[in-house]
Amino acid sequence: MIQLLASTRSKEYPIYLSGGAASDVGSLWSSQGRGGKLVIITDSNVAELWLRKVEASMDDAGITASSIIVEAGEAAKSLERAAELYSKLFALNVRRRDAVCALGGGVVGDLAGFIASTYMRGIGLVQVPTTLLAQVDSSIGGKVGINIDEAKNYVGSFYQPDMVVTDPDLLRTLPDAQLKEGLAEVVKYAMLSGEDFFAAMESSYEKFLGMDMAFVEPVVRRCIEYKLAVVSEDERDLGRRAVLNLGHTVAHGIETAGGYERYSHGQAVSLGLLAAARLSSEILQLDAAYGERLRVLLEALGLPVEMHGVDPALVLRSMASDKKADDDSINMVLLEELGRPVINCDVPPGQMEAVVRGLGED
Ligand code: GLY
Repeated sequence: MIQLLASTRSKEYPIYLSGGAASDVGSLWSSQGRGGKLVIITDSNVAELWLRKVEASMDDAGITASSIIVEAGEAAKSLERAAELYSKLFALNVRRRDAVCALGGGVVGDLAGFIASTYMRGIGLVQVPTTLLAQVDSSIGGKVGINIDEAKNYVGSFYQPDMVVTDPDLLRTLPDAQLKEGLAEVVKYAMLSGEDFFAAMESSYEKFLGMDMAFVEPVVRRCIEYKLAVVSEDERDLGRRAVLNLGHTVAHGIETAGGYERYSHGQAVSLGLLAAARLSSEILQLDAAYGERLRVLLEALGLPVEMHGVDPALVLRSMASDKKADDDSINMVLLEELGRPVINCDVPPGQMEAVVRGLGED
């Protein structure tokens, strides 16, 4: 079992990474010496696949555990669902020394993490991510929250878990669309990390698609280690953590303009990474060959490399009202080299318009 250490200002915690680790959640939690009971929060899809395994691990470790199943989907990240969960925890007599175990993807992790951060002003939190996106990104770093009608993730906090258990074997049952969600983030990490990681994805992406764990597990580890290094330096997203937004400024514009239906987050990130590569060449002289290599890789992974069915003017308008926009120019992360991100690059509106229109016109 690989054990990584997250070291942030507010908390240090272990991340256990290994195929089969989901069967050890109970014993790993016992080994933290925390005591108390654990409430597993999961969704209806994940419950069918993995809940029994995690519950059995609690039984084996002699931990008192209960489970709450929420309806799968983004709608679970709401104040209404949160209120219901608070009441359920109260009914289960959950107190300060107890903990919540988030078993699921990004939605469950964000929701359950938000509940853990606010119920009784904060109780324990274990993350057991079941999607690629959650394993490489949302389960680590402590961003938790819910949506409001007006905007996604607008209510939340920074609340680090006490333990993360990442089992890449759980990815074997992931629907293709959800795998792609995470792969866009993996490509982002490869661009942020440098030639070595990027070239490994280019030469061996088929091993990832084929779930060859000898390749998948080290890739997941590389992503986690990159994020841990960033978060240990900038837990509260005041500086360097912004590098993790590579490709996301344009992506959010595309998602919003498409009404969150035309393109999923991962698909929008794919297009956003291409836009970022193009702007990086124009503004920071990144070798244009990387843009082409990126396009080939994203296409090989089954991610979109052209935008269709979304009006570029709408994308630009939603980017202008996005929280990352500042005055007229758009502020975003670009690369001067693979592995050398630069935050706070000003992109003039005309240049942004040309690049967004270049992604596709209809
Ligand atoms: N997903 C970006 C961050 O955690 O900061």
